[in-house]
Amino acid sequence: MERKQVVCGNWKMYKTSQEAVDYINRLAPLVTASKSNVLLSVPFTSITKAVSAAQNTKITIGAQNIHPELEGAFTGEISSIMLRAEGADFVVIGHSERRQLFKETDEFINKKVIRSLEDDLIPILCVGETAKQREENQTEKLLQDQLEKGLKKIPESGAQDLIVAYEPVWAIGTGHVATPEMAQEAHAFIRKVLTSVFSKKVAQKIPILYGGSVKPNNFKKIIEQKDIDGALVGGASLEPETFAQIVNLG
Ligand code: PGA
Repeated sequence: MERKQVVCGNWKMYKTSQEAVDYINRLAPLVTASKSNVLLSVPFTSITKAVSAAQNTKITIGAQNIHPELEGAFTGEISSIMLRAEGADFVVIGHSERRQLFKETDEFINKKVIRSLEDDLIPILCVGETAKQREENQTEKLLQDQLEKGLKKIPESGAQDLIVAYEPVWAIGTGHVATPEMAQEAHAFIRKVLTSVFSKKVAQKIPILYGGSVKPNNFKKIIEQKDIDGALVGGASLEPETFAQIVNLG
């Protein structure tokens, strides 16, 4: 079955809004022929200008986080409605940096996934094991747990819009990319869990992206794997020329 192919840049806490506009103006002409969907997950402060710079290009703009409530006394937080109003189309949820540094739980992450689907923001749900969990053979158990808890109470209809990202924590920002075989094994397992959470038909349609030290020189072998449908790219997405090379390998 043909699945949507997606390459998403995750800028993390980098770039001002003006830098975002300059970047998009450089990236847009380099990716016009790509068969992948090109996504940029930008800081909140860049969304408005990035959306406008990306108009009439192949690039789709999204956010790196949301709060599950629509409004309220949550100092420093941003809601799905606010993001939609600025033109964001997707949101990264449950990135390992949010889980580790900001103590986000699977239950909290689940509320965000539910909210984003309700408000027409495509969620990219991130899952992945630490080095210790892999050493202790806990990878599959951990992935199953994060997926079952993170996707609780999501109807099959909502799952049509879902994207999952497998990001082994030990590979993020370290230069230690997973081997294509290791990534494929994890992706196949994720698809198996998605089949049990939803149905085979729906699970076959959900794009599963690999993330963790993706670079132009390692992505070709990764994207060739059967269950790998794209990438979530951190460091290598910060320069448009480098990111375009990755996008165009897809
Ligand atoms: P990296 O980050 O590509 O810099 O390893 C990936 C991510 O955190 O999404």
